[in-house]
Amino acid sequence: TGYITIDAGYKNTGATKSAITFLDGEEGVLNYRGYSIEELAEKSSFLEVAYLLIYGELPTQEQFSAFEHEITTHTLVNEDMRKIFEGFPVNAHPMGVLSSLVSAMSAFYPETLDLDSPETTELHIIRLLSKLPTIATWSYKKSQGHPVNYPKNSLDYCSNFLSMMFSLPVAEYKVDPVVSAALNKLLILHADHEQNCSTSTVRLVGSSQANIYSSISSGISALWGPLHGGANQEVIEMLEAIKNDGGDVQKYVDMAKDKSSGFRLFGFGHRVYKNFDPRAKIIKKAADDVLNKLGINDPVLEIAQKLEKAALEDPYFVSRKLYPNVDFYSGIIYRALGIPTNMFTVMFAIGRLPGWIAQWKEMRANKEPIGRPRQVYVGAPRRDYVAISER
Ligand code: CMC
Repeated sequence: TGYITIDAGYKNTGATKSAITFLDGEEGVLNYRGYSIEELAEKSSFLEVAYLLIYGELPTQEQFSAFEHEITTHTLVNEDMRKIFEGFPVNAHPMGVLSSLVSAMSAFYPETLDLDSPETTELHIIRLLSKLPTIATWSYKKSQGHPVNYPKNSLDYCSNFLSMMFSLPVAEYKVDPVVSAALNKLLILHADHEQNCSTSTVRLVGSSQANIYSSISSGISALWGPLHGGANQEVIEMLEAIKNDGGDVQKYVDMAKDKSSGFRLFGFGHRVYKNFDPRAKIIKKAADDVLNKLGINDPVLEIAQKLEKAALEDPYFVSRKLYPNVDFYSGIIYRALGIPTNMFTVMFAIGRLPGWIAQWKEMRANKEPIGRPRQVYVGAPRRDYVAISER
């Protein structure tokens, strides 16, 4: 095994060639299929970006209308899935529910196992994109003790999600265009990020020729971790803790510098970005805009701004090139939109879904071999078995 080099955390190991997302961490550049994230966040829609990532090109009007029609007509979820859902306790974390139900989808669509049919693969892709928002809203409804809402085909992707979240049988939710535009932007910013932990998981699981629902469900589980997508929930909880503790941001910066504290500044640092995360720049501006437009004065935004400033001026963070990442300000916007904290990572999953699908498709199209890292064994040398009575 002398020829094996260990690269813990794959810090410097390329696992694939990919034509989907370009990321330059030194310069803070992020492009999907060649289009800059700044331009897409400004001008495009989440569904258009999903099409771009999955099929490689921006759609024509005709292609887009057909895609949108397919998505809006598959939003209903099998009623038997609801029975599974009803068995979850009311305080179940929505990410645990989401990964379980996406995994369960593979049992509802047994033709899933035929990976070689492009038609069924297309149908699974459409089903995933259409049904994920529907399933996601169930957890919130249950937490409120309210009945779940059915999707509405007349609404666009983001408005439909908001309507399922916030409509009540006694009061229809009127979608605020400011809210729906902000959600659209956030989902675009989350749509892909090359070979991150959850995406690598999707590709790795898929490389065994496991079906697409199982692969995506594994990605959702990977995303849940606090060092990955789960950081957006951690950030808000941290900012609230600072606020309740008197607002002394320096105390928390100092704690994050002290390795023995076990505390990290959530929403700071990134494996690849050694410069501003371009998504964080856009989100910071959007947070200001959205709060202004909605007339919300969230004291947590002020704490976030102070904390960011204190960290960016601190030699510990400067020397390690630790900048705010996508998760630092996203929770502040989600909160302003009325999304509860324990749903933040679910929002990330809805946004990342097209990226996972595109990467799964690319892995299949490239006919990539099964992923199977090696190791260097450091355990006991060969020894003889000792009977239990003699140990
Ligand atoms: N607070 C304090 N110190 C930090 C932080 C932080 N947030 N992030 C990194 N460091 C230190 C780390 O202790 C290490 O110091 P030293 O060189 O003295 O040992 C140095 O910076 C390099 O960090 P690392 O842990 O070796 O870097 P990594 O590439 O393995 O980890 C990371 C990247 C994102 C997991 C890490 O920066 C982190 O834990 N950040 C907080 C969690 C977070 O915000 N995650 C969201 C990431 S972006 C969205 C996503 O992926 O979902």
